[in-house]
Amino acid sequence: MIDQELLNRAFKNLENAYAPYSNYRVGACVKTKNGDFYDGANIENASYGLSNCAERSAIFAAYSKGVRKEDIEAIAIVCEGKTIAAPCGACRQVLVELLNGDTPIYLANRSEQMETTIEELMPMSFTGADL
Ligand code: THU
Repeated sequence: MIDQELLNRAFKNLENAYAPYSNYRVGACVKTKNGDFYDGANIENASYGLSNCAERSAIFAAYSKGVRKEDIEAIAIVCEGKTIAAPCGACRQVLVELLNGDTPIYLANRSEQMETTIEELMPMSFTGADL
C-alpha cells in the first residue's frame, strides 16, 4: 500500500524547490523505519550540471544525519507534471548505492501514483561488489 503520509510530505516539499531555470519542481521525502522524515527538493544552478535532484537532496539529508540503507522504510518522489517523474540515470546510480534493492520507491504526480524499487529501475547495476 502506498504511504499517503509520505507522499503528502513529498508534495509539501515542492514548495522548497529552487528551479528558476526549468520551472519544474520536484519534491522528495525519505521515511525511516523509526518514523523520521528527511525532506528534499530539486535545487538548480546557473551552471545547469550542478543542479541537484530532489531524491538526491532527500537521501543525502538522511545519510548526513547518520541514517543508512537498512534504516530506510521508503522514499517518495513527486512532481506536478503531466507524467510521473521517474528518477534520472544519475539518481538511479545514487539510489543503487544508498537504498536496499527492494525498498519501496513511491512515484506520483497529482493524478497518478505507483510503487517501484531500485532493483526494478536499475537492473544489472554497477556497485561496490564489482570493485
Ligand atoms: N529532477 C528531479 O529533481 N528528480 C527527478 O527524478 C527528475 C528531474 C529535477 C532536475 C531539474 O532540476 C528538473 O527536475 C528538470 O530536469
